[in-house]
Amino acid sequence: MSDESDFDIMDPAVQQCPYEGYKQLRRTAPLYQLPSTGFHLVTQYDLAREIIRAPDAFPSSVSPMALSDDGIAPEILAIYESEGWLPLASCSTSDPPYHSRVRGFLEKLFTAERVRAATPMIDQIAETLLDELEGQTEVEFVRAFAHPLPMMVIADLLGVPQSDIGQFKIWSDAIVEPFSMMASRERRIECAQLVVQMQAYFADMVAERKRQPRDDLISDAIAYRDSDDVAFTMQELMTIITIDLLASGNETTTAAIGSGMKLLIEDSSALAEIVAEPALIPRLAEEILRLESPAQGMFRRCAKDSMLQGVSLAEGELLNIRFGAANRDEQQFANPDQIDLHRSKPGSHLAFGMGRHVCVGAALARQEMISAFRAVTQRYDQFWLTPGCDEPCYQPSLFGRNLLTLPIRWSPRK
Ligand code: HEM
Repeated sequence: MSDESDFDIMDPAVQQCPYEGYKQLRRTAPLYQLPSTGFHLVTQYDLAREIIRAPDAFPSSVSPMALSDDGIAPEILAIYESEGWLPLASCSTSDPPYHSRVRGFLEKLFTAERVRAATPMIDQIAETLLDELEGQTEVEFVRAFAHPLPMMVIADLLGVPQSDIGQFKIWSDAIVEPFSMMASRERRIECAQLVVQMQAYFADMVAERKRQPRDDLISDAIAYRDSDDVAFTMQELMTIITIDLLASGNETTTAAIGSGMKLLIEDSSALAEIVAEPALIPRLAEEILRLESPAQGMFRRCAKDSMLQGVSLAEGELLNIRFGAANRDEQQFANPDQIDLHRSKPGSHLAFGMGRHVCVGAALARQEMISAFRAVTQRYDQFWLTPGCDEPCYQPSLFGRNLLTLPIRWSPRK
């Protein structure tokens, strides 16, 4: 890249490996207005933190769905109006007072104590998935393990029977893809059709739980009352279940487990370290989150005319915080492109954000990653990309960093 004008994060080819481009931007233009979209990319750690810590000056209510050139297509509105509920802004793309109302419920769901209680279930799911792969020397790791694990965990917590989750990958992709800002209009319409199917499924579950509450997150959401003693509406419940819990939690954690395996394949000394000392696995999880941040970027909006890094910004202008760039900032992390299992502050990355919008599912996601890599490395200790397969590709997305497939070979521990 000769200068920053060569870097277009909207280019799917650039997204396969944006890190050299991020490095140059951090040096020459840490707040860079992308000519193709008009929004500003934020690539420095300190600058990202400054913006995130000022949520009133830089609020979050920006819907990537509405940012596409033609806004929300009338066909999509018609699908939701006639067959379902138009998704509301998610918790992460809303501001108070709606944000406080929804977050008040969500932030109590995955406390350390609750995650500790769920850990045997998470471990069991990891073991069951590996049992099913026993004897296979080659697997497509995303489909066989990285995707089903978080899906089965959240399904269990929501109270969805495991026998119903076959359809969930298709539904979950349909929720997330419109946020990627890379989906065609036709695909966005198809996604809306799939999302209303998913809403119908959950509307039935909500009706059933209203009649007969159970010990699950759907019953908790129905029973919740905010500080004004107001319950969630059906439209709010649909958004909370399908976007805040299912979509926010699954795709990101799948991305972390998939990217983590790829990183271990590329770094045999890190693999040898965790095989020899499994107590380092929580540190491995932090390094995966830092190096291949599953949420690569989130928007903020300028609430008023402002000045950042000598750049004047007008009210309404958009900032896209590239967590994936901030987490490799050489001013913050020594050897930023390397796995280092002995960093003094392993969790100081911004992969879960910080402040008002810090991820409510961070403790759950961390445990899922730990359970996943512990279970896999207890059974296998060598991993390779399957020879003859194409180089693994990431799904083009402004938001996520999901490997489409990861065909691997593995060899059992002796
Ligand atoms: C490795 C996995 C995960 C990553 C990397 C991740 C990343 C993030 C990030 C960066 C934010 C902050 C966004 C911002 O500041 O604009 C966030 C917020 C959020 N995450 Fe996660 N997340 C993960 C897993 C989960 C899980 C498992 C759940 C729930 C089951 C979840 C639910 C949420 C919700 C509801 C928010 C919005 C919080 C708010 O705006 O107050 N996430 N996540």
